[in-house]
Amino acid sequence: MDRRLSLLLLVSSLLLALSFPAASAADDVESNDESLIRQVVDGEQEPNDDHHHFRLFKRRFGKSYATEEEHNYRFSVFKSNLRRASRHQKLDPSAVHGVTQFCDLTPAEFRRNHLGLKRRLRLPSDANKALILPTEDLPTDFDWREHGAVAPVKNQGMCGSCWSFSTTGAMEGAHFLATGKLESLSEQQLVDCDHECDPDEPGSCDAGCGGGLMNSALEYTLKAGGLMREEDYPYTGNDRGTCKFDKTKVVASVANFSVVSLDEDQIAANLVKNGPLAVAINAVFMQTYVGGVSCPYICSKRLDHGVLLVGYGSGAYAPIRLKEKSYWIIKNSWGEHWGEKGFYKICRGRNICGVDSMVSTVAAVHTTSR
Ligand SMILES: *[C@@H]1O[C@H](CO)[C@@H](O)[C@H](O)[C@H]1NC(C)=O
Repeated sequence: MDRRLSLLLLVSSLLLALSFPAASAADDVESNDESLIRQVVDGEQEPNDDHHHFRLFKRRFGKSYATEEEHNYRFSVFKSNLRRASRHQKLDPSAVHGVTQFCDLTPAEFRRNHLGLKRRLRLPSDANKALILPTEDLPTDFDWREHGAVAPVKNQGMCGSCWSFSTTGAMEGAHFLATGKLESLSEQQLVDCDHECDPDEPGSCDAGCGGGLMNSALEYTLKAGGLMREEDYPYTGNDRGTCKFDKTKVVASVANFSVVSLDEDQIAANLVKNGPLAVAINAVFMQTYVGGVSCPYICSKRLDHGVLLVGYGSGAYAPIRLKEKSYWIIKNSWGEHWGEKGFYKICRGRNICGVDSMVSTVAAVHTTSR
């Protein structure tokens, strides 16, 4: 274990040294990556310059800008994101990085408008510690999408509400396991009505598009009595409305929720037994992710995004890796046109991007009515 870790550190530092030569050489490095960028922009064989990429980007994602000034600014941001994508490609060779719908956003805009995970030091008072489960007989591959526990991919839009989608995803799965019925549940109820936090930590409150936390949202859901259906309380993508929660229309209720230990086998066992899990992650590589298994040599564990763990798989994707041939399958909330039809794959084995650090499992109340 220790030998593996030190080998990994050695390899990472070597690769880092290779990936970040003197800043002045950066331009050379980038021009070598032109072919790489081309392969991820529609495969059209046309002149391969930044203007061309930007035209394709605008067409593909229906982007238009109000003024020429704005257009030129977005073009400059786009160019720097192309360079970021090729840096990500070097640091994360088992995934494909390139143009996504977020390529005209600065990293700060991206974090502010499309993520939304808050931090809270203490757990909510009703959170349990998950029981330690047996792990001997876990299947090598498992995917809740194949068992009907995962609702279609949704889109949080321009709103830092990731936490509400992670929470509804976990509740949708738990409700499916408790009742056999898949109901799409309301994020807007959480965005409008949930202001749960640690009273000693005012900054930690769930705050609509301003961010929130899945454990707090589960605490809210437990106290409020449950969640309404998506169709009864539809998503608006903003937090300017008032709370329209109608308790008589609750369709799924929390029985209890628990935090899972950092152990990957325990995470897998809880996933298989209890349904999809709410997890937090560092999303920096997700801004440029196009497909494949993301397994960056180095990735911050600073958690800034809430997503849903729905399964795990195995397969040879990175021959130089040692034990890390398996990956988590993650449902995101950026629509179906991001990543692999809205999903992300990230390698297992070393808490990469912090994916194992904040994992919650929820049990729903078993109901037969409705
Ligand atoms: C949580 O609820 C489920 C379903 O009602 C139950 O089986 C389980 O024992 C509960 N867990 C805890 C820790 O109370």
